[in-house]
Amino acid sequence: MIPLSVPNLNGRELQYVKKCIDTNWVSSAGSFVKKFEDAICSYVKARHAVACVNGTAGLQIALKLCGVREGDEVIVPTLTFIAPVNVVKYLGAEPIFMDCDDYMNIDCVKLREFCAKECLVTKLGLKNKKTKKIIKAVVPVHVFGNPCDMEEIMKIAREYHFKVVEDATESLGSYYTTGACQNKFTGTIGDIGVFSFNGNKIVTAGGGGMIVTNNRLLAEKAMYLINQAKDNPINYIHNEIGYNFRLTNLQAALGLAQLEQLKGFIAIKKRNCELYKGLLSSVSGLDVLGSPQGTSPNYWFYSLLVEKKEYGMDREKLMNSLTAKGIQTRPIWYLNHLQCPYRKNQAYKIEKALWFWKRVLNFPCSTSLNLKQVKLVSSAIRSLSGDH
Ligand SMILES: Cc1ncc(COP(=O)(O)O)c(C=O)c1O
Repeated sequence: MIPLSVPNLNGRELQYVKKCIDTNWVSSAGSFVKKFEDAICSYVKARHAVACVNGTAGLQIALKLCGVREGDEVIVPTLTFIAPVNVVKYLGAEPIFMDCDDYMNIDCVKLREFCAKECLVTKLGLKNKKTKKIIKAVVPVHVFGNPCDMEEIMKIAREYHFKVVEDATESLGSYYTTGACQNKFTGTIGDIGVFSFNGNKIVTAGGGGMIVTNNRLLAEKAMYLINQAKDNPINYIHNEIGYNFRLTNLQAALGLAQLEQLKGFIAIKKRNCELYKGLLSSVSGLDVLGSPQGTSPNYWFYSLLVEKKEYGMDREKLMNSLTAKGIQTRPIWYLNHLQCPYRKNQAYKIEKALWFWKRVLNFPCSTSLNLKQVKLVSSAIRSLSGDH
């Protein structure tokens, strides 16, 4: 079986994890946590990083730090893994769903239009005319590693007075090559950014997350909240309700060893993506999704766009045929505004997301994938097409 995406643990993972065990530092205190935080700061050029238990927890803390409370609203994309949507509800707020652009990232044209036409700037913040609630934040997700148009998102957010939490869980190492965000990494442009080190991510810690920000006070508050809000750790005084969201030293050790290999991982992912593009370019009804201009993505996940009529079969049939050939693929997420808990929430002119949802198939992209396997996957996809 050629898997969709598996970890590549060929660096110093064992050495670092063994050090935790040898020294008895396996839990949430220990030198690897700080080393991992520092290494992330230096890689993405962020001032502060706070390691946490996973990306979802990081997003929850980030939104809380942006002042999201019960009764507020947060703008989220409908085309994303559900985690950044659920965290809005964890805080007692409601998501408003936004459409996507040509790269499956949040549609900035519609975001601006929504703020201008459907909202009012008030003393309390941006008021949604329909629900009368205050929109506190937007969560742009850098889908599959492709950077969102952060320059425009930041302009809109400043103009309409709401905060920006970047869901950079999938885009560690992606950055901008031109414009106002030139040389900035995803996750470091909004008020707060969050990375994930889940098993399928480009860098894994087994599980884990990282909150990054350039604001010292926000970083200190994040650290306080993830550590049970301890005001006096000796006498157990807690003046706020905190969380047990810390990362363990064991996970940080694994994550650090992985992070040391990130540049190499991105280079392999880029090479394989370009190989696939070349090998599949002549197949009608198929496209490998590219990246927005002015960005250098991390190529985390590859997306095939399957046009049923021209290709000769739809996305589901292609997926099943590839499974039969021992090649694992996966359709893109179901749209969040159509998920049971969110059907009653506001969704603004969702069009492109529906288009992508019917067509996108993610296909093998592990960093351990070799040239022979890329060719094998490509010829399997080619051989199933109507052209063949
Ligand atoms: C877009 C997105 N947001 C958030 C998360 C949540 O991260 P974690 O699994 O570390 O909680 C993930 C994936 O896992 C994701 O893909």
